[in-house]
Amino acid sequence: MSGYLVSDNRKVTTHRFIEMKERGEKISMLTSYDFTTAGIVDSAGIDGILIGDSASNVMVGNSTTLPITIDQMIYHASAVARAVKRALVVCDMPFGSYQVDRKEGVKNAIKIMKESGCDALKLEGGVEIIDTVKGILDAGIPVMAHLGLTPQSINKFGTYAVRAKEEAEAEKLASDALLLQEAGCFSVVFEKVPASLATKVSKELTIPTIGIGAGNGTDGQILVVDDMLGMTKGFSPKFLRRYADLNTVMTDAIGNYIRDVKSSDFPNSEESY
Ligand code: KIV
Repeated sequence: MSGYLVSDNRKVTTHRFIEMKERGEKISMLTSYDFTTAGIVDSAGIDGILIGDSASNVMVGNSTTLPITIDQMIYHASAVARAVKRALVVCDMPFGSYQVDRKEGVKNAIKIMKESGCDALKLEGGVEIIDTVKGILDAGIPVMAHLGLTPQSINKFGTYAVRAKEEAEAEKLASDALLLQEAGCFSVVFEKVPASLATKVSKELTIPTIGIGAGNGTDGQILVVDDMLGMTKGFSPKFLRRYADLNTVMTDAIGNYIRDVKSSDFPNSEESY
C-alpha cells in the first residue's frame, strides 16, 4: 500500500493542531459525512475531519449550504464521530444556528456537541459573530473560524469567486483573524483567497490556518472528500486536485454488476445458500 504512515497514533486534539504549527508540520484535513468514509479517512492517517455543511450539496444535492438543519448536521456528525479513532472531529454549525444572537448560538452549539460527539465546532464569519464565538468558547467548546469565501453568505456575495482581492476586504480578513485568535479560536479556515494574503496572515497568527483555495502558505489544507476522490464530476475549481477517479471506478463496477445480473452470471453456486 502506498501513502502516508502515521507516526503518532494518539487522538489528535486542538492543542496538537497548535503544536503542529509551532513545529512547522502541515495539518491535513478532509471532510466526511458518513461512518464508512470517515473510518477510511481516519485509518489513512488524516489529522482532522470536518463534517462540513457542504453535506447539503454533496450528500443531498442542494445548490447551497443554506438548507441543512441542526438535526441533519448532528445525524452526519454522529455517524462520523462513531467511526473516528484518531483525527480531530470538527462539525460545522449550519446557517441560522448562530447568527441570531449569542444565547441562541451557545444553546445550539451545546446541542450539537452533546448529540454528535464531535470535538469542536466551525463557524463562518469575523467581527459580526465575535460575541457568539466568545460565548461558545466560554461554554468550553473549541471553535475553528472560517473567513474568506464563506458559503453561508453566498446570497450576499452573489458569486463563488475569489474573495479579499481588494485591499479593504484583505485588511478586514487580517483583522478578523487576529480578533478570532484573541477570542480563543484554535484555528481558522481561509477559503478561496489570494495565496499571498493567506501566507501573510498565517505568518502573523500563532493559531494554525487551514486553506482551501488559499495557496501553499497556510499551515494546513482541507478538501471535500468526494471532490478529491473524483466522485463528483461537475465541480472542477482550480484549487481541486483529484487523487482518484472513483466516479469511473464505481460506474464500471456497477455496470459489471448489471451485466452479471442480466446474464444470470450472478449469483453463482458459491454465492448461493
Ligand atoms: O463545508 C465545508 O465543506 C467547508 C470546507 C470547504 C472548509 O466548510
